Amino acid sequence: MKYKSIVATRRGGPEVLQIVENELRPPAAGEVRIKTLATSVSLPDVEARYGRSPFPAKVPFTPGYSIVGTVDAVGEGVTQAKVGDRVAALTAYGGYSEYVYLPEKKLIPVPTALDPAEVVPLILNYIVAYQTLHRSAKVKSGDTVLIIGASGGIGTAFLQLGRIAGLKMYGLASKSKHAILAEYGATPIDYHTEDFVAVIRQLEPGGLDAVFDGMSGDYLPQGFSLLRRGGVWVSYANPFSLSGLLRLFGRLILLNLLPNGRALKLYGTGASYLDRRPFLEDWAALFDLLGEGKISPVIAAKFPILEAGKANELLESGQVIGNIVLLAPELL
Ligand SMILES: NC(=O)c1ccc[n+]([C@@H]2O[C@H](COP(=O)([O-])OP(=O)(O)OC[C@H]3O[C@@H](n4cnc5c(N)ncnc54)[C@H](OP(=O)(O)O)[C@@H]3O)[C@@H](O)[C@H]2O)c1
Repeated sequence: MKYKSIVATRRGGPEVLQIVENELRPPAAGEVRIKTLATSVSLPDVEARYGRSPFPAKVPFTPGYSIVGTVDAVGEGVTQAKVGDRVAALTAYGGYSEYVYLPEKKLIPVPTALDPAEVVPLILNYIVAYQTLHRSAKVKSGDTVLIIGASGGIGTAFLQLGRIAGLKMYGLASKSKHAILAEYGATPIDYHTEDFVAVIRQLEPGGLDAVFDGMSGDYLPQGFSLLRRGGVWVSYANPFSLSGLLRLFGRLILLNLLPNGRALKLYGTGASYLDRRPFLEDWAALFDLLGEGKISPVIAAKFPILEAGKANELLESGQVIGNIVLLAPELL
């Protein structure tokens, strides 16, 4: 039997994404085979395709940072996973595929009552927002924060989780996307036409408790002084190059040495490869919030997995508010 995947055949735009056919093989020892139900389309997929990374993926590769699916077969030595289990995984690559093979230790158990289309944004976008809020910045109810990139997949996760946490929120977003920020109680600032530093200085003379920065651009030098003493700037953006990564580390050392009581912290989901426990705890907390109806991912568009090219085109258009998900045909 054959199955299909999407492959980035070379560096470039969505047109380099092609469908390829693979042989469906039994899983190797310690491995499970998963039938994909949902997979995310996010900015890291786009950045990887263009090679904008300190350590770019070699082409050809299959993008797809997170998946939700059903265990379809298990290899020798697999002890916990069973055929029929609903699971998720933070794959980083490989999600745009009808079937995915993974080591058992990468699986995240998922309650079957939850909709896979709503679970997949929790595996990447919500975990970034949740952990930067609660583990990096350790926000408290009443804190005042700024969200840079507030209208995207991670940005809208911040808006929902920030409202639950009782935060006073400001968000940078294009004017056409301001309604979604206002819906979650955030004050929108149009970074195209307004000087966000001047706006926040005027509205919050006491300074901000935290800033969540998803842009690898240059908000940090302009905005760091907006933090009050004891305030934290959390950067979760992926640098586009090795020099960008080194510049970020340089700023990390310099800004944390300055005796002004402000801190810069870096966040990356790569930490899950070192210690999965906090991630498993936080995914479970997010599944509870979804099950209780306290969060509801903003889904801008759903596409069949094999139409990943169209989904990437839409993401790159800059028109998207929230998440784009790819789904198995039976879920559309
Ligand atoms: N560290 C990690 O582990 C990790 C994991 C996942 C993603 N990331 C990073 O997180 C970032 C966001 O990812 P995402 O998937 O949420 O992206 P996304 O859904 O495409 O959202 C990005 C948002 O940023 C806004 N934006 C674009 N240029 C901007 C600018 N110059 N200033 C302010 N806002 C701007 C866009 O909306 P407007 O039209 O409103 O500008 C867009 O909605 C990316 O840099 C990605 O690499 C990091």
